[in-house]
Amino acid sequence: MTEHVKAEVVLQATNLQLTYDRPILRDINFCIRNIVRPGLSQGQVVSLVGRSGIGKTQLIKIVSGLQQPTAGRVTIYNNKPVKAGDMGVIFQNYYLFEWRTVYQSLMLAAKKNSKLFAMEKQIIEQYAEQFQLTGHLNLYPQQLSGGQRQRVSIIQQLLKGSDFILLDEPFSGLDVCMLDKAVALLQQVSLSDELKTLIIVSHDIETSVAISDTVYILGAEPGKAGATIKKEIDLIERDLAWVKDIRREKRFLETIEEIKREL
Ligand SMILES: Nc1ncnc2c1ncn2[C@@H]1O[C@H](COP(=O)(O)OP(=O)(O)OP(=O)(O)O)[C@@H](O)[C@H]1O
Ligand SMILES: [Mg+2]
Repeated sequence: MTEHVKAEVVLQATNLQLTYDRPILRDINFCIRNIVRPGLSQGQVVSLVGRSGIGKTQLIKIVSGLQQPTAGRVTIYNNKPVKAGDMGVIFQNYYLFEWRTVYQSLMLAAKKNSKLFAMEKQIIEQYAEQFQLTGHLNLYPQQLSGGQRQRVSIIQQLLKGSDFILLDEPFSGLDVCMLDKAVALLQQVSLSDELKTLIIVSHDIETSVAISDTVYILGAEPGKAGATIKKEIDLIERDLAWVKDIRREKRFLETIEEIKREL
């Protein structure tokens, strides 16, 4: 197993419940700790997988403080209740400010990140170049394709520099080349700071698990209404985390099969 320590708690969900006209989520408990690896600033990457309609997006909203659970609590660091704005969320529908150009939206995000002081323009241009958006910076969102909107949305949240970045279906609209770039970028982000924590919701299980250290499987259990975390898989223990070209390894494919059986 790769040498590492799981240190202080960065994010804790306790007894989360969400009920609308029927129970959606129940008894959700998890704890993400700061992973420390010698000589590296290693962030945390969690994959949240589950069938369509099971409650992943609702859970992301609660974890990010954008929605109140019916019961339970989410805290970050030393028991600080999470509040809206603490986390960068990239939503499934790639919400963008329709009345601002891409550049204006990105600048607004960059200005929230004091680490980028005086470098905002340069960093935006770098990201735009990397994601083939250079010619699109002065357009409005309605003038973009779905995949372009998605890339703008990802860059927007990365520029804000939050420690927590939640991504709901970040890979769905990307072509093969963009997918590789997005994966590489997320890996780079996860290594950019010890405390960065990424939670990825994706139907592309292979891609999200390949860059994660932990998998949470959200599902229903017999006789109980509402979904919960049925299983947590520690990929580090299985020597499946932080391994280059892991997707080709037999043991990786076996874990993917195991996850699919649980869905
Ligand atoms: N405002 C609401 N009122 C009532 N039910 C809702 C509301 N919002 C969501 N739901 C229900 O909550 C359940 C979970 O929805 P959610 O969007 O979290 O699923 P999901 O796992 O993200 O699915 P997908 O993979 O298709 O995105 C669904 O059955 C949905 O109908
Ligand atoms: Mg969803």
